[in-house]
Amino acid sequence: MSEVVTVAGLGVAGDGIAVVAGERLFIPYAVPGDRLAVRREGRRGEGWRARIVERLADGPDRAPPSCRHFGTCGGCALQHLAEPAYRAWKQRRATDAVARHGLDPAIVAPLVPTVPGDRRRIRLAARRIAAGLVLGFNAAESHRIIEIAECPVAAPALAVLLPGLRRGLTPLWPAGAEGEVALTLTDAGVDVLVILPAPLDAAARTALAALAEALDLARLSVARGPAATPEPVVERRSPTVRFGTVDVVPPPAGFLQAGRAAERTLVGLVTDAVPADARVADLFAGCGTFSLALAGRARRVRAVDRDGPALDALATAARRAGLAGRVAVERRDLDRRPLGPAELADCDTVILDPPRAGAAAQAEALARSRAACVVYVSCNPATFARDAAHLAGGGLRAERVTPVDQFLWSPHVELVAVFRRSA
Ligand SMILES: C[S@@+](CC[C@H](N)C(=O)[O-])C[C@H]1O[C@@H](n2cnc3c(N)ncnc32)[C@H](O)[C@@H]1O
Repeated sequence: MSEVVTVAGLGVAGDGIAVVAGERLFIPYAVPGDRLAVRREGRRGEGWRARIVERLADGPDRAPPSCRHFGTCGGCALQHLAEPAYRAWKQRRATDAVARHGLDPAIVAPLVPTVPGDRRRIRLAARRIAAGLVLGFNAAESHRIIEIAECPVAAPALAVLLPGLRRGLTPLWPAGAEGEVALTLTDAGVDVLVILPAPLDAAARTALAALAEALDLARLSVARGPAATPEPVVERRSPTVRFGTVDVVPPPAGFLQAGRAAERTLVGLVTDAVPADARVADLFAGCGTFSLALAGRARRVRAVDRDGPALDALATAARRAGLAGRVAVERRDLDRRPLGPAELADCDTVILDPPRAGAAAQAEALARSRAACVVYVSCNPATFARDAAHLAGGGLRAERVTPVDQFLWSPHVELVAVFRRSA
């Protein structure tokens, strides 16, 4: 049974919110002002998840989506929102997070936008059916794979490979098997990781090498599962990515900032905040996006992460660039063993770039340290706000928070926040 509602606002996941008899309905792909016939599909928290049955009248901020898959593919949530309303909503995500923990929303700078085609990493779901390999993104809140013919978010060099990958991988993929294909655009071409939970014989490896040749891939690797160690099948060119003036070869499907222009923005914001000649600790350093970009101007950088292959890539790149004396790497789990005040005594500037779960233990330790400057790069405003409250409690004053739209048309927003210890 459907009911007619008017959408009042947008929630944190980008869903339209309508209130009926005091209960909230969360409606994907709705905009404020929409008058809709909707059907409730189940409980969601305190409210209901509802689906649009018919659009009776459009709200003023509705815009045509850029992609033909929008509405079925779960990758994007907000293509249907006009640009000014979209930016205002992302800006509010940042100011709300800051205000929620007692920081002054006036320190939030205007959102730095990104453009379609900037995304250099995509991870596709794959399943072999009778007709061939289905390769695409999962539908929202579902394991159904939406076969993708275009993706305006991704770099064109990635999207253009999809038909060739489908054709080339189909004969190698056992019937019914599910897996993933991760694509990364490096400076030397595309690096592909095929995650296939089935053994590959010599003939399959030869076919994969031929596929890499046909598609002009830089490297193609395979792994038996998402947590298995990838094994390169063929490396036609070294898949390098440049950080500052240093070329790094990231591990297959290793972490890189999602967008190339977005990364430049993040590095610029971090670099601007770090004093020349600083003694830097880059925590959650990955394969060195910030460590290597800063290596030329910092006195020294201590890069810490729990990912061994990423740190190996960083250390190798630093050594080859003659920076081994300035960049030291350390493998460590910072949730279990955060760097304590004594260990941070020889660092004046700390960069934090944790995963979505944030860095609660490390932020608490930093609050007790004497670090003069903390630059916090966050992909989750909620955990950022929690950790920022720890830093503020330790005398580190939030100076500026800059939201960066690294995840175009998704509900996610990246923040770069600069904290300084008051004298
Ligand atoms: C958002 S990425 C940032 C990487 C890097 N700063 C960059 O810009 O490329 C988060 C990093 O945190 C690391 N990580 C996740 N949990 C960790 C933990 N408990 N201790 C140390 N590192 C962790 C991951 O390996 C990953 O490299």
